[in-house]
Amino acid sequence: MIHIYSTVVSCVAMALSVSAVLPTLYEYYTVPKIETGLSANQSYFTLNGRNISLYSGTLHYFRVPKAYWRDRLRKMRAAGLNTVETYIPWNLHEFEDGKYDFGKGGSDMQDFLDVKEFFEIAKEEDLFAIARPGPFICAEWEFGGFPSWLLRTKDIKVRTSDPKFMKYVTRYFNVLLPILALLQFSKGGPIVLFQIENEYGSTEGNGFLPDRVYLRQLVDIYKKNGIRELLVSSDSPTAHGDKGSLPGVLLQTANFAGNPKAEFDKLKELQHNKPTMSMEFWSGWFDHWSEYHHTRDDDDFGKVYEQILTYPASVNMYMFHGGTSFGFLNGANVNNGATDNSGYQPDTTSYDYDAPLTEAGDYTEKYVIVKKLLKKYNKVVTRIPVTPAIGEKIAYPKISVEKEMLLDDILANIHNSVSSSNLISMENLPINNNSGQSYGYILYRKENIDLSPNSILTIEGRVCDSVVVLVNGMLISKPLSYTEDLNGFGFWRLKNSNLTLGPRGLKNATVDLLVENWGRVNFGLLPQFNQFKGLWQGDVLINKQKVTSWKIYPIEFKKSWNNNLVGWKPLSERWAPGPSLYKATLNIKEAKDTFINMEAWTKGIVVVNGFVLGRYARIGPQQSLYLPAPFLKNGTNSIFVFEHYMPASEIKFCKSPHYKTIKKRGIQGRAAFKK
Ligand SMILES: *[C@@H]1O[C@H](CO)[C@@H](O)[C@H](O)[C@H]1NC(C)=O
Ligand SMILES: *[C@@H]1O[C@H](CO)[C@@H](O)[C@H](O)[C@H]1NC(C)=O
Ligand SMILES: *[C@@H]1O[C@H](CO)[C@@H](O)[C@H](O)[C@H]1NC(C)=O
Ligand SMILES: *[C@@H]1O[C@H](CO)[C@@H](O)[C@H](O)[C@H]1NC(C)=O
Ligand SMILES: *[C@@H]1O[C@H](CO)[C@@H](O)[C@H](O)[C@H]1NC(C)=O
Ligand SMILES: *[C@@H]1O[C@H](CO)[C@@H](O)[C@H](O)[C@H]1NC(C)=O
Repeated sequence: MIHIYSTVVSCVAMALSVSAVLPTLYEYYTVPKIETGLSANQSYFTLNGRNISLYSGTLHYFRVPKAYWRDRLRKMRAAGLNTVETYIPWNLHEFEDGKYDFGKGGSDMQDFLDVKEFFEIAKEEDLFAIARPGPFICAEWEFGGFPSWLLRTKDIKVRTSDPKFMKYVTRYFNVLLPILALLQFSKGGPIVLFQIENEYGSTEGNGFLPDRVYLRQLVDIYKKNGIRELLVSSDSPTAHGDKGSLPGVLLQTANFAGNPKAEFDKLKELQHNKPTMSMEFWSGWFDHWSEYHHTRDDDDFGKVYEQILTYPASVNMYMFHGGTSFGFLNGANVNNGATDNSGYQPDTTSYDYDAPLTEAGDYTEKYVIVKKLLKKYNKVVTRIPVTPAIGEKIAYPKISVEKEMLLDDILANIHNSVSSSNLISMENLPINNNSGQSYGYILYRKENIDLSPNSILTIEGRVCDSVVVLVNGMLISKPLSYTEDLNGFGFWRLKNSNLTLGPRGLKNATVDLLVENWGRVNFGLLPQFNQFKGLWQGDVLINKQKVTSWKIYPIEFKKSWNNNLVGWKPLSERWAPGPSLYKATLNIKEAKDTFINMEAWTKGIVVVNGFVLGRYARIGPQQSLYLPAPFLKNGTNSIFVFEHYMPASEIKFCKSPHYKTIKKRGIQGRAAFKK
């Protein structure tokens, strides 16, 4: 049956031209007034008493420049979707212990953080919204959205009812949830549904049972803060049953890539006479460094989407638009069920996800498929906007590196270094008003040490996550050029690793250990897994003697620091490989979307006008970084690169993303890397 809107707002309809006679979504569902929200009190959803299937897509506001929120949301609505879904990342909104940012809060990510404005724009673009505030959000996001300063509390058990953890959750939710409460559908806002925790059933294992006391406590905090809309949980019902849910309190939804019938049948078995919904139907997949670039076959995607629509079920497509994990904000997996970082798999900066809209907001074949299928199966016909034109992309002419800054000059810019007899992890440094260091690099320097010929450096435990070793400023460890290098000294896979510091004996030498945090794990056994970064698992030895008296430098690449660096020098003739900064200037008439092509460089990060765009690595698969126009200015732009090993002399641009190896392969379920 087609519900063409007729009587309720006929006055509105009459005022519109004939071609626009269809009602908007909000006209259809809210006129003449809002009485009830989303109801799961029967085998199908109703909203304000009218039947609805949620046709939702995920877009993370924190992965898309604010200037593009409206464009991406309109493209979503133009495909026929009626809802947008987003997670809410705690690590950005409470960027230091007790310090909040919901836009203009003073953190480097502040331009992304006006979550209220995001939901308001969603409503203006005629979309309902699903909010998933976690507090754990997975999302291939740094520590699954947890702030790293939580780790400063000894033995804290995240994702459990541990009071040490719940104290911080409660304090944060008491700030966040009142903002969201005002954006609820029943208050005239767009949010029709909230998810509690995230795939909580999948924490099961290694002796850990999902903690329902914790889930119950979360529900109570929601209620206390005035959240009245429907509450749900999400998991794979065939894999975890209702272990991650509270039957009777939370509506269970299903996450999967394929075989919707099995998942939905299981949902129906677990909860009788309830609506069926997929909270995450995976449109594509994400990439780990050193692996191939993942794509999902369009026909397979369309076939499964159609099976979902005809089941019939509501569905949120994860992702509809993946965007970018800018800066240091990517997450990581651990494979082989490891409870240490031996099976660590960090995610790339690009979160394109092979989704219907590309990382740069362009349409793909999947977009066409979604639009066609929703037109065919959505019984509620409302007004759909014209499909927006895509943004122009440009490959600016290449620019030359003009200035450099060697490691000692970089360190001279750091004014909060710490002297310590023992090694300290990033998180436990007494900096940032006692929130420690969250992201970037940490350098451990040992001065005035005499080295006999062929001295052996030993790092006890594992490096978190990689280390570059220099003696008197000379690079000693091997550059990361090939995937196989990850098996050798300098990377997370080796335990108790050794490196020979060179054949010459040296008096009064300086040894530097530059450690990169590649992103904290966002999935799996988080309650049992120590996520500290830097060197902290044991001692550092030279010729089996413990080294003490370190000078420790946090190298955070914060925006104000990046923009005020002193000591830039003209590019020198004499060049040796090792960690340095390389600066160039991009002069443009008009800012447009582009990609920075880093294929000629080795490993590091790119900083544009003080903002850390993201990481690059020759090992791939990602070889270029999306640089959206809003990060550029008409006129002069400063771009610098922090290269760990071998730089190139130029920075190049391209119009579309480059990958190291493009290998088509079917999507893997989460089970594939949980084994
Ligand atoms: C669903 O049913 C419950 C219990 O009867 C009721 O309190 C609630 O208002 C209903 N929800 C909606 C949205 O109608
Ligand atoms: C709402 O959907 C249910 C289930 O498909 C159907 O039985 C019912 O007739 C629908 N109600 C209206 C008013 O269309
Ligand atoms: C440091 O933290 C304390 C306690 O959270 C807070 O009162 C103070 O304002 C903070 N100082 C700065 C400079 O942020
Ligand atoms: C490093 O050297 C120590 C002492 O010789 C040895 O026990 C250890 O196995 C070595 N580590 C590796 C990864 O080979
Ligand atoms: C040791 O090296 C440092 C520089 O790292 C220098 O300042 C100092 O004078 C040297 N000391 C001796 C005894 O050579
Ligand atoms: C940049 O220049 C273009 C073309 O002249 C203009 O349309 C645009 O508004 C300018 N942008 C800014 C931020 O000034």
